[in-house]
Amino acid sequence: MTSDVYVHVRREDGATDLVTRPKAVIEYEGALWIAKFQRRDDTYDQCGAEHATMRLTSRCGIDAAETRVLAVGPRKVVLVKRFDRDAAPYHPTCHYMSGLTALGLDETSDSGSYPDLAMFLLRHGARHVSDRHELFRRMVFNVLCGNRDDHLKNHAFLRCGDGWRLSQAFDVVPQPDMDPQQAIGVGRSGSYPTTGNCLTRVEDFDLSPDEARDIVATLAIRMRSWRADFVADGVDDATVERLARAFSKDLD
Ligand SMILES: Nc1ncnc2c1ncn2[C@@H]1O[C@H](COP(=O)(O)OP(=O)(O)OP(=O)(O)O)[C@@H](O)[C@H]1O
Ligand SMILES: [Mg+2]
Repeated sequence: MTSDVYVHVRREDGATDLVTRPKAVIEYEGALWIAKFQRRDDTYDQCGAEHATMRLTSRCGIDAAETRVLAVGPRKVVLVKRFDRDAAPYHPTCHYMSGLTALGLDETSDSGSYPDLAMFLLRHGARHVSDRHELFRRMVFNVLCGNRDDHLKNHAFLRCGDGWRLSQAFDVVPQPDMDPQQAIGVGRSGSYPTTGNCLTRVEDFDLSPDEARDIVATLAIRMRSWRADFVADGVDDATVERLARAFSKDLD
């Protein structure tokens, strides 16, 4: 930990305290970062879990935003480096669009799926083949690590001139307390969170069945050591055990 960040939220009675999980954009190491603060009522190290998961995502060959964990007084904050801003003076690099907007849906909709996002890339993507492969990897990673909060606003596209590209991955965190189903569809059995279901619409991701199975097998091998990786990234044993409920039993 290299620096401290203090955030206080003013309560109705005039006292100041950390009463919610505020987010802020901060300048750090010459870049802009989204700071996501630990809540007082967190029952495990969610900041550490997000940082460790994002690092595991990168180690699995997925293009994920860079993260850091810092101290906030007695608590923690996870910083996620913004991918839509240049270095100082931080002009926007590209146009940003959420997956929800790309599919023309609203937040109350329960439709939308990874194959739908892949179809958006096919129609409007600047590099639709490599980005559809990347989207497939992210979908399988989310299923295997139990990130059930993979709703359409947790996917984004950037337009930097020649068409839309997938943004870097963000907000990838195992969710041990959420229902065991993905937020959006992954295959012919909807949001049922298995790699088997992920393998039912591989043609939408421009993959042959063999190529898709290879990706699943490679991710599973790389993710198998997640417990040791998380501990090496500073996550405590109790948090690791809590998160284990979310990870796929296929990794055991
Ligand atoms: N690295 C990044 N660069 C640019 N924008 C980002 C980045 N990370 C997140 N965002 C934007 O900030 C929003 C909130 O971030 P994030 O999804 O991490 O927070 P959250 O509170 O965990 O979200 P959720 O509502 O999914 O629980 C995202 O939906 C996205 O629009
Ligand atoms: Mg989010």
